[in-house]
Amino acid sequence: MVMHKIWTERPVSIKNERQIGTRLALLVCLSFTTIASQMFVSSVASAATVFITGTSRGIGLELTRQYAAKGWNVIATCRTPATADALNAVASKNLNIIIEELDVTDDAEIDGLAKKYRDTPIDVLINNAGINGGMQSQILGKLDYEMFDQIMAVNVRGPLRITEAFTDHVAASNQKKMITITSSEGSITSVKFPAFYFYRSSKAAINMIMYTLKPDLGQRGIIIGLINPGVVDTDMSRGAPIPLLSPEESVSGIISIVDSYTLETSGTFMQWDGKELPW
Ligand SMILES: NC(=O)c1ccc[n+]([C@@H]2O[C@H](COP(=O)([O-])OP(=O)(O)OC[C@H]3O[C@@H](n4cnc5c(N)ncnc54)[C@H](OP(=O)(O)O)[C@@H]3O)[C@@H](O)[C@H]2O)c1
Repeated sequence: MVMHKIWTERPVSIKNERQIGTRLALLVCLSFTTIASQMFVSSVASAATVFITGTSRGIGLELTRQYAAKGWNVIATCRTPATADALNAVASKNLNIIIEELDVTDDAEIDGLAKKYRDTPIDVLINNAGINGGMQSQILGKLDYEMFDQIMAVNVRGPLRITEAFTDHVAASNQKKMITITSSEGSITSVKFPAFYFYRSSKAAINMIMYTLKPDLGQRGIIIGLINPGVVDTDMSRGAPIPLLSPEESVSGIISIVDSYTLETSGTFMQWDGKELPW
């Protein structure tokens, strides 16, 4: 199965019909582009493919970087590719990254991408995009219910909707893994102090949804993974009064856990360092 890099063609103005030299140069350029495109297609045809949400920054960006470095085809999705400077910089150095626009709350975008990639087996799909809504919106007595709806839309409905839309793509692949980047904040046993009512509920809910999907998707050979990345130095956790993991360290651990999941361990709630977490 092949993937095609999207090539942006800039309009070329040929002011004078006699500028044959310019035309020849253009032909050479176009031929080179075609050859390069064909080289890209054949070089990635046998590689595994990962589809990742929320790759503009943080853990999603680092997942993109590390999977690309391993030689995987990466379909890196983000809300606004035009302003995703860090992602564009990584993609400009890696032919095996394709950037696609995807807001995980937008059903039309989800269905559009599922259709566009209907012939592409996806070995690993990673539901990474997430928001925590900030602490101020989640203080009892001042709970912000619009934020509650937003967090649930991004962290719960989005991953479920994407999982449903891309089930055939994952079922058609070799590795067949549906991974969700969840959080230890969704572990009811681990709650020690009151905070993050919405965020914690969203991560407990997505854990339950993915766990419930395990037997259904297992019938098609699909493995479910739930991974807590640790407390990572990204926009989400920066400034937390505890030691933070670097995105590089966390993501390298996450990829090892993804690699280690099997149908036997499907549905387990794991942490980046290999520890199994309680529900
Ligand atoms: N960092 C931590 O300590 C930590 C701990 C536990 C769990 N997690 C989980 O790890 C995942 C990644 O978090 P992070 O630390 O990398 O956070 P981050 O740096 O804040 O990045 C969040 C990413 O999600 C994207 N996103 C937000 N809403 C979206 C939407 N509606 N559609 C598509 N993308 C959307 C953001 O895109 P924009 O740039 O467009 O906003 C951004 O790329 C989340 O699921 C989070 O809950 C993180």
